[in-house]
Amino acid sequence: MVKISIIGTGYVGLPTGVNFANLGNEVICMDKDAAKIEKLNAGKTVLYENELPELFNKVLKSGKLKFTTQMLVAADAELIFITVGTPINPETKEADLQYIRAVASELAPLLTGYKIIVIKSTVPVGTGAEVANLIHTINPQAEFDVVSIPEFLREGFAIYDLQNPDRIVIGSDSERPLAKLKELYEPWKGRSHLLFTKRESAELIKYASNAFLAMKISYINEISDLCEQCGADIEDIAKGIGLDSRIGHKFLRTGPGYGGSCFPKDTNALYMIANKFGVEMSLVATTIKRNEARKVAMARRINNYIVNINSPVVAVWGLAFKADTDDVRDSPAIEIVNNLLGINYAVTIKAFDPQAMENARTLLGNKVSYCPDLYAAVEGADILAVLTDWHEFAEADFAKVASHMRNKLIVDVRNLLNEEKLKQLGFVYNRLGKRQND
Ligand code: UGA
Repeated sequence: MVKISIIGTGYVGLPTGVNFANLGNEVICMDKDAAKIEKLNAGKTVLYENELPELFNKVLKSGKLKFTTQMLVAADAELIFITVGTPINPETKEADLQYIRAVASELAPLLTGYKIIVIKSTVPVGTGAEVANLIHTINPQAEFDVVSIPEFLREGFAIYDLQNPDRIVIGSDSERPLAKLKELYEPWKGRSHLLFTKRESAELIKYASNAFLAMKISYINEISDLCEQCGADIEDIAKGIGLDSRIGHKFLRTGPGYGGSCFPKDTNALYMIANKFGVEMSLVATTIKRNEARKVAMARRINNYIVNINSPVVAVWGLAFKADTDDVRDSPAIEIVNNLLGINYAVTIKAFDPQAMENARTLLGNKVSYCPDLYAAVEGADILAVLTDWHEFAEADFAKVASHMRNKLIVDVRNLLNEEKLKQLGFVYNRLGKRQND
């Protein structure tokens, strides 16, 4: 049993705390946001995440998981995890480290006895060293090590990924914290690969992983565009190349471009890190450029179908950046909606998302109307745009959808729906990576 504190209770911090508590560790989650802590104390999980509510309730009852707004309480643990956000700085495109620095500065004077400070947030190479220097400058007496253990969980599957990671990367330049960290990660022994590296390597592994996956997506999206011109079908191509075990089938789904709080931010940050070291990252630069252009292209694609309709009504299914989350940060769906409204002033948008409506409202305000379910969204619509890959969209009753729509048009930028079934029902169905009339 290890005494752990987690600073920052977002999409990474909260599931991480719950997972460690479930393994019998004593966990205290700290957040400055008093309203959030109050909700968590009242048993509300504050974010949508598969499997989280059940496990959260279980560990709350066991008394292994507690919450606080006090840094002093967090500073008392043996292992202090920092999981605050490192959002993109919109001007410099670098990772904004203000929250990391604020935590380090606040923590420094409170440290007594030896502490292991783990940076789990995605941070540029050298941040571990910077945090260590900052703490040392504020409190020269403090006895501590700063370790980098990047997190690889996917939103929506946080609990599953925390319990079944492909690898756990532990970057430390000191031997001293390793025994305690081995004790903490003992339950994964033999099940996941434990990789011990230099601190800088661990920091870079995280960016290099995310950028590689983003590049894979931009690549399949380019091939998808080619398919639309040359008569091949992207679904066959993804299968055909994915069967090569050196390539693998994951992250070969064509779509509206990658989004979320990680890939867009991390590709830009990696580019800027390399730039600082005088290294050109042209593959990453092109990945970013292609991804940006894609979201504009998707809006044009939808608009092509409605450009001749007076006051067209567009039903939008999906506002989250992907299925299984309520997160709308850098969501392609939100950008497509904004782009569409920018190129066609006459358009009315009726939107539905199973979990992300509340968050979407903070970004879109009253630019769209928010519908209670998927059928309400298609009522009187000229076209249905499927923008997020929620499973329940594929399971919808399309005869019912057809009866609600004014025109039976569907643009599916997730290649989610059953083409044959839709054609039988008389829909004009457009998906990615296939010539329209094939
Ligand atoms: C991603 C990584 O997958 C995690 O390993 C990492 O820990 C996390 O970022 C992070 O850095 O915190 P996440 O952003 O939750 O996780 O979502 P993904 O499932 O990776 O999807 C990212 C984006 O790529 C989504 O917009 C998704 O729709 C898109 N995508 C994904 C595709 O367009 N095609 C694919 O084949 C896969």
